Amino acid sequence: MDDKKRVLSGIQPTGIFTIGNYFGAIKNWVSMQDEYLCNYMIADMHSITVKQDPVVLKNNVLSSLALSLACGIDIKKSNIFIQSHISEHAELCWVLSSFSQFGELSRMTQFKDKSENNKENINAALFTYPILQTADILLYNANLVPVGADQKQHIELSRNIAIRFNGIYGDIFTIPEAFMNIGQAKIMSLSDPIKKMSKSDKNQNGFIGILEEKDSIIKKIKKSVTDSEGIVYFGEGKDGINNLIDIYSSIMDKTREDIQQEFEGKGYGNFKLKVGEVLADYLEPIRIKYNSLINDRSYLEECYKTGALYARKIATETLKKIYDKVGFIGR
Ligand code: TRP
Repeated sequence: MDDKKRVLSGIQPTGIFTIGNYFGAIKNWVSMQDEYLCNYMIADMHSITVKQDPVVLKNNVLSSLALSLACGIDIKKSNIFIQSHISEHAELCWVLSSFSQFGELSRMTQFKDKSENNKENINAALFTYPILQTADILLYNANLVPVGADQKQHIELSRNIAIRFNGIYGDIFTIPEAFMNIGQAKIMSLSDPIKKMSKSDKNQNGFIGILEEKDSIIKKIKKSVTDSEGIVYFGEGKDGINNLIDIYSSIMDKTREDIQQEFEGKGYGNFKLKVGEVLADYLEPIRIKYNSLINDRSYLEECYKTGALYARKIATETLKKIYDKVGFIGR
């Protein structure tokens, strides 16, 4: 193998992907393909920690795969697979569970949030979820893990588990690092711009799906909540405008200062229309590609089967080493 750094990341197959998922994660995945050896994963095992309808979940896994491909994941450059196809994830998760402490898992803010919002189903997997995520990463000897800011704490935990394990058994695991692009935007809700954009927002105007049509995109941007100052610049107390500036900046590759100049003396109406149009044009080819891929089930099947074949090779080798180290007799 060459000495390119290895990347692993996962995305949960949860139906709608918003432009927040796109600019916060998937866009990074795409941009890393040339420089790194990338393994990307549809994290279906993670998603059953909240209640799922099996038919819907199956559809969501396929649509997440199709969407990743439509966004630019290229199977000639990267490997993409479905987590549950590689049984080593669950097996390594079990081993690592013995090296993960109740106390450190209790500190995970995502667990606290999720159990707060999901009181009727605080299951054990919701709690041990970060150990499975650690197994995902360590199985592929990943150096870098491109994630959104909300996952940083999980990656920190993965590092600690890996370091702890290595401390006992020697230099086995690669110590992973969270990878975030400089300028990687955290996209906020359009209706309440101090909150992160989320597809579970009860207000449909709060988020934009990657596959949304032009009219709807423009309408939502127009309706987005802003301050009343009427001057386009990035600043304190201007969360709505700041958010639109970040969206525009992610698409156009322009700095905040450039954008401020571009819209000097132009007012919010003009700015919003421009952001809406640029965003809709940007997403259109993704939607077209998605629509053709989602109807090509045999191609999707070929992709995830090839992906699993390659992933399994790496995962089997890692797990074998770990089983030997902890004292399991070889099969
Ligand atoms: N937990 C991640 C999320 O909810 C998804 C995920 C699962 C992941 N396994 C991973 C991300 C491994 C990075 C690496 O967004």
